[in-house]
Amino acid sequence: MHTDFFSWLEQHQGRQYELHQKHINSSFVKMLRTIGFDKGYVRGEGPYLWDKEGNQYLDLLTGWGVFALGRNHPKVRAILQQLIGRDMPNLVRMDCSLLSGLAAEKLVSHAPEGLSRVFFTNSGTETVETAIKFARCMTGRQGIVYCDHAFHGLTTGSLSINGADFFRERFGELMPGNQKVVFNDLESLEQTLSRKEAAAFIVEPVQGKSCEVVKDGYLAEAQRLCRKYGTLLVVDEVQCGLGRTGKWFCFQHWPEVEPDIICCAKALSGGYVPVGAVITRPKIMDCVFNSMERCVVHSNTFGQNDMAMAAALASLHVIEEDKLVENAAEMGQYAMTRLREIGSSCPFVSEVRGKGLMFGIDFARPKSSLKLKMAWDMLHKMNFGVFGQMIIIPLLQKHRILTQVAGFHTEVIKFLPPMTVCKEDMDWFLSAMADVLEDTQRIPGAAWNTVAGLAKRAMTATVAG
Ligand SMILES: Cc1ncc(COP(=O)(O)O)c(C=O)c1O
Repeated sequence: MHTDFFSWLEQHQGRQYELHQKHINSSFVKMLRTIGFDKGYVRGEGPYLWDKEGNQYLDLLTGWGVFALGRNHPKVRAILQQLIGRDMPNLVRMDCSLLSGLAAEKLVSHAPEGLSRVFFTNSGTETVETAIKFARCMTGRQGIVYCDHAFHGLTTGSLSINGADFFRERFGELMPGNQKVVFNDLESLEQTLSRKEAAAFIVEPVQGKSCEVVKDGYLAEAQRLCRKYGTLLVVDEVQCGLGRTGKWFCFQHWPEVEPDIICCAKALSGGYVPVGAVITRPKIMDCVFNSMERCVVHSNTFGQNDMAMAAALASLHVIEEDKLVENAAEMGQYAMTRLREIGSSCPFVSEVRGKGLMFGIDFARPKSSLKLKMAWDMLHKMNFGVFGQMIIIPLLQKHRILTQVAGFHTEVIKFLPPMTVCKEDMDWFLSAMADVLEDTQRIPGAAWNTVAGLAKRAMTATVAG
């Protein structure tokens, strides 16, 4: 390979779809091409992406929340560049790194006082796997209680506490002994916890797949029940944590809540280096690592690597210094208020919900207009979930805004703007939404023709498959 890496890369421009089809995931390429999302972006900065024709896009998907600071944040980049220019004694393993100590100190400074220990991981799912193991070790129990519609990652342990069958199907037997409860329902939670079999109750304060938010009082009561029945409370803040909802951690919207374990990742990376963290109480950590012999009984080869630790430290500093938590609160409030107003004139909109800069719009069969009801029914008979494409396709093709449907078999479109987003960009998004929602009411019209075509093709593919 050339030492001039970018000249070498340039020679291969345009080959990405062919290469992915051949070597990575051909179904993914097919899906991108079907909905016209094969844009071949060539540049990213802040909240924007650019394609090779120089068109600018607003990115409200942010790599599933990784680019919470926007893409290529100059302060994070400057620190990583300095680090890479030095001969650091990275990952010695039989020593303690200063960088990871400082990253842990900074991270816990935003958590409740009782949670002062950190275990660094390399992803969200590894963070959840760690929380599961720590809870099992601490309580001597097996099972994990989780919510319907929950998403905690896709490795075997976290997959076994996934709230949707879709992700689990065809992967065989997973971890035994887990129990699903209804999200936001304290009765079903108490019934399950009262068996005194659960090591942990794990919950996302804002669910990634549904954008449902825990009700006021829910987490505090869940915490009381957990303590009563000897179960640890784990909040999965991999997506909603580190400022996105307008507090450092989302559970801090309810001051009486103090979980036993906090999971975070995504934003911690600064969009540069994968990293996650379990934040927990000393007694839990000391229970896992309870002797010199067991001091690495839970560990990972790449955990605490210098690049990840510097990215984490830099990201935490940027979130503090640039007041991104405050901006997320303000911009989130603005966007959701305006989106509710805009949505109220579209009979397909059932709800706008979320917290801070993690919000979504949900759709349902209209209550009025026979024509709209018939169109809805026709589409849903062909394919449930395709309605969302009627929103995300024109958002990208007409308005150059990148979004995605929140999950399989759902109509929720989730928006995860970077925490650096400004009012002008929110207005770009809001006027685009007004236009797209208006188009859904034109029947027959281009929007309906597009999705009916997609639904038919998807149906044919399912039948053929
Ligand atoms: C709440 C939550 N937990 C865990 C995960 C898994 O994270 P990762 O994809 O980094 O494994 C995700 C990913 O979206 C998530 O949203």
